[in-house]
Amino acid sequence: MSINGLLFNIEHHIQKQGAGAEGDRPMIDTNTNMPRRYLPAAGRDWLLPFYDPIVKVMGADATRRELVEQAALQANQHVLEIGCGTGSLLVLIARRCPDLTIVGLDPDPKALDRARRKAQRAAVSIQLDRGFADEMPYPTASFDRVFSSFMFHHLPADVKARTLGEVRRVLKPGGRLFLLDFAGHDHESGSPGWLARTLHSSRRLHDNTEDRIVTLMRQAGSADPKKVRQDAVFLHQIRVAYSEGAAP
Ligand SMILES: C[S@@+](CC[C@H](N)C(=O)[O-])C[C@H]1O[C@@H](n2cnc3c(N)ncnc32)[C@H](O)[C@@H]1O
Repeated sequence: MSINGLLFNIEHHIQKQGAGAEGDRPMIDTNTNMPRRYLPAAGRDWLLPFYDPIVKVMGADATRRELVEQAALQANQHVLEIGCGTGSLLVLIARRCPDLTIVGLDPDPKALDRARRKAQRAAVSIQLDRGFADEMPYPTASFDRVFSSFMFHHLPADVKARTLGEVRRVLKPGGRLFLLDFAGHDHESGSPGWLARTLHSSRRLHDNTEDRIVTLMRQAGSADPKKVRQDAVFLHQIRVAYSEGAAP
């Protein structure tokens, strides 16, 4: 199958899920002991092996490097990625800054297995936990930096708000959130090309504009939330946006 075919398959699945259900993979909620659903990295389990090569071709490595640059990491900081998936950002961080405590959280055990193997191959130490970003298993004020990379559009609107509340809770005073995702439709949209138009037709992405994310950050108690940058990747066919907020 061509990359275009795979991307179409992934997005078709995302669109099918966009109307209400959180995704097609169940996980037992640790608080309620009830099954809870989430949307996995590539939409379907069988597509997961293609996720890393596809997002690499789409330019994800460069955008993740930019996100890490923005975070100005310093030795001994405690760093969390929510929705860490296959662990690419975590390994990138660990290679750049070996003196950090690095934690990744994701509900998908298959993605976490891949992240674990990736960390082993890179010989870096990363704690990987299974769970949801809107009910994190971490104490209040335990992280200096929280990252979210291509994860936010996987969340329904109510989960987005709860997730930002949790991020605010687990950040230390002065700690910062660095969020990278596909840019949504907004007043700044130009003509982003066929691939972006396909991606942006997802209902989840419509709820993912930078303005919306900044508003949700503010409502969650974030100090000085803002969109810091927008880039176009994959031959200008995909727009990505970087947003940032801080715990007061
Ligand atoms: C597109 S992947 C991004 C993975 C990785 N951050 C990256 O940069 O490649 C989105 C990830 O978010 C995870 N996810 C979905 N719902 C979630 C939730 N409620 N809380 C935390 N992670 C979630 C999925 O399992 C998936 O691994």
